[in-house]
Amino acid sequence: MSDSKQQYVIAIDQGTTSSRAIVFDHNGNIVSVGQKEHEQIFPRAGWVEHDPEEIWTNVREVVGTALSKANLTRHDIAAVGITNQRETAVVWDRVTGKPVYNAIVWQDTRTQSIVDELARDGGADRFKAKVGLPLATYFSGTKIKWILDNVEGAREKAEKGELMFGNTDSWVVWNLTGGVDGGAHITDVTNASRTMFMDLDTLQWDETILQIFGVPRTMLPEIRSSSEVYGTVHGSQLLREVPVAGILGDQQAATFGQAAFGVGDAKNTYGTGNFLIFNTGEEKIMSENGLLTTVAYKIGDAPQVYALEGSIAVTGSLVQWLRDNLGIIKSAPEIEQLAEAVEDNGGVYIVPAFSGLFAPHWRADARGVIVGLTRFVNKNHIARAALEATAFQTREVLDAVNADSGVPLTELRVDGGMVANDALMQFQADILGVDVVRPEVVETTALGAAYAAGLAVGFWNDTAELARNWNEGKRWSPQMDPEERDRQMRLWNKAVTRTFDWVD
Ligand code: G3P
Repeated sequence: MSDSKQQYVIAIDQGTTSSRAIVFDHNGNIVSVGQKEHEQIFPRAGWVEHDPEEIWTNVREVVGTALSKANLTRHDIAAVGITNQRETAVVWDRVTGKPVYNAIVWQDTRTQSIVDELARDGGADRFKAKVGLPLATYFSGTKIKWILDNVEGAREKAEKGELMFGNTDSWVVWNLTGGVDGGAHITDVTNASRTMFMDLDTLQWDETILQIFGVPRTMLPEIRSSSEVYGTVHGSQLLREVPVAGILGDQQAATFGQAAFGVGDAKNTYGTGNFLIFNTGEEKIMSENGLLTTVAYKIGDAPQVYALEGSIAVTGSLVQWLRDNLGIIKSAPEIEQLAEAVEDNGGVYIVPAFSGLFAPHWRADARGVIVGLTRFVNKNHIARAALEATAFQTREVLDAVNADSGVPLTELRVDGGMVANDALMQFQADILGVDVVRPEVVETTALGAAYAAGLAVGFWNDTAELARNWNEGKRWSPQMDPEERDRQMRLWNKAVTRTFDWVD
């Protein structure tokens, strides 16, 4: 350990719905948590924004909460790690430090016409061999282009080198390390791999793609590894002089926190959306089944580790929608009681294609459907169908992973908010036909960022030590009759086809 007094590492998790700070001890156990939600801004159908200044204010507040809850000061903290909602694009002024527009969130679909325009020459997969991603509204690239094309004066400023882009990792790190007083404008390989601009082999920005998008290179952060000392927290802040030493996009952080370090290891995180990551080691595999190729992590100078990813846009956020838009439930946990009050879904299937469909379909033209409605159906069935949608979508992604890898997964490690729901996890195991396993510490996203930072400062020695911290919390084994599983998947697949071709 770097200093005997420094017994903890703090992780800042800047997520889609909230920002959190979590203090971990050397065993990877949670010591304290600070959390605050930020506003979800929906200016029009398909548009989703966040206020970057609100996010930065909340980050500072939750760090203070986490430290004070455990009665700690900066002297107790060996390092700070950052993890974040990926793809969400912030563009800010280098001189004033102010964002030129709200952050455009990963779920936002306003850039579909930019995607279509770019795909006209070479199709949706024209950059895939280099960046691992199909052209889609999901990734940062078209969001940056939209800001430059639509915010008055933005393009001229960008061309003069006056604007900076970052995902929320870069925005937080730049502010944390001093902002306009010399903050570090950096990102890590995992976040960079979600922009459409990073060459997966060289781990550098690709000049040709930048030119095609019309995005000046000077706006982009420097790409660094996921675990190294990037700088220290600025003197004006609570954590002053603590090394900032780890950055991982939240799904890659969860992979790290789940100790999925071996080739073939996988994890599935149940958050706003679901994201299944399958470690492919030093080999970069291009999916033939609708998965993304992405960087899992890079520890300092060691070679990067790649992964296949199945991204599902809407899972937990469907529960929020039932709460906020339909008012069927007052709080998210209520959905469990409603769903448990009925034996089955009553024939109802909900396919929440709110942002089109992501993996494995990548159908921008899809929109959500509720099918199978009869006079018998009540809100309990709707609640149940909403939860089941998460499990069905995960099965589609697991099938794609199995097809790409050729070696079927025999169990799935899970984490995230929804894995507290026992009935859902049992249904998940039933629909997958393999065991579902939850670790003791389910806050794997923050834990992964803490691990990355702790490794860089010698708080932990190596990944083998981290893997020893992983303990099984609970396991669910399939109980459903295989014929029933097949019947339900058949109906789900039929429901999915009903979402297609809905956009004029
Ligand atoms: O790719 C989007 C993902 O990083 C967002 O994750 O957990 O904030 O919904 P989450």
